[in-house]
Amino acid sequence: MNHEFSLSQSKYSNTSAPVMVVTGGAKRIGAAIVRAAHEQGYRVIIHCHHSEQEANDLADTLNHSRPDSAVVVLADLTVVNNSEMLQQFTQNIIQAFGQLDVLVHNASRFYPSPLGDIDLEQWDDLFLTNAKAPLLLSQALYPYLRTRQGCIISLLDIHAHNKPFKDYAIYNMAKAAHRMMVQTFALDMAPEVRVNGIAPGVNILPEADSDQALDPQQQKSIIDSIPMQRIGKPEEIAHSVLYLAHARYVTGEIITVDGGRSLTLAGGGV
Ligand SMILES: NC(=O)c1ccc[n+]([C@@H]2O[C@H](COP(=O)([O-])OP(=O)(O)OC[C@H]3O[C@@H](n4cnc5c(N)ncnc54)[C@H](OP(=O)(O)O)[C@@H]3O)[C@@H](O)[C@H]2O)c1
Repeated sequence: MNHEFSLSQSKYSNTSAPVMVVTGGAKRIGAAIVRAAHEQGYRVIIHCHHSEQEANDLADTLNHSRPDSAVVVLADLTVVNNSEMLQQFTQNIIQAFGQLDVLVHNASRFYPSPLGDIDLEQWDDLFLTNAKAPLLLSQALYPYLRTRQGCIISLLDIHAHNKPFKDYAIYNMAKAAHRMMVQTFALDMAPEVRVNGIAPGVNILPEADSDQALDPQQQKSIIDSIPMQRIGKPEEIAHSVLYLAHARYVTGEIITVDGGRSLTLAGGGV
């Protein structure tokens, strides 16, 4: 990637600015990564599925501050199950700005699959976003990343390695597979493309109206378990994404961004 880490967005003309795509980039951590990259001068591709309105609003805001710097690409990641649709999705990403420098695998599904209730639908759904799509999308975009000496950054989880989250067997397994993809592709894609990961702890709470919403007591017990004594911020993940995007001698690395939470987890629940 022919650019240096810089706090100045004026460093690039818009046509020479590096391009980052963030899957699931319309909201929450994905949107924080999009905003931070744009602030650093990147042109951004906001991938979304259901959150088209949020993605368009975000793109409008970014294009208002810098014209022709943000594009929305809509797709259900099930496109990876069909080679022609995957090819079309890949082309939509590349044609947005004619190049790709950074691929961020952020899109995810997250819900429990308790023993006794595990079924194939959950398996397919949780593995799709958390392992299968990152694998097949990385392969499809590799030729374009290689010509730019670009990089891949995967959003993993502290529960992807040694510290399983109780009742989340499929999610844990899918993120563990994704983690191994990071390490394997770091070998397979070197030296042209670097591949790294970020393992968040609790960096944003589940949305209040979701099945995963946590009541105040559950939130308090999580905060009590975190050495930094607070929930993380999406911007703190974005900060590490930008570090990895510019760390030219770092590959196969997984950075934990969890306020120390993994130190206190014995495995199991909170
Ligand atoms: N939240 C945390 O504190 C935390 C903790 C550990 C790890 N992580 C990891 O960090 C990343 C971001 O977390 P988050 O909580 O911000 O994510 P999130 O809100 O759970 O999901 C991000 C986006 O994934 C997209 N997505 C889901 N299924 C999709 C599909 N079939 N096709 C296309 N897009 C799909 C959705 O896009 P649309 O809304 O457009 O449909 C969604 O907005 C995830 O990889 C997560 O596993 C987060």
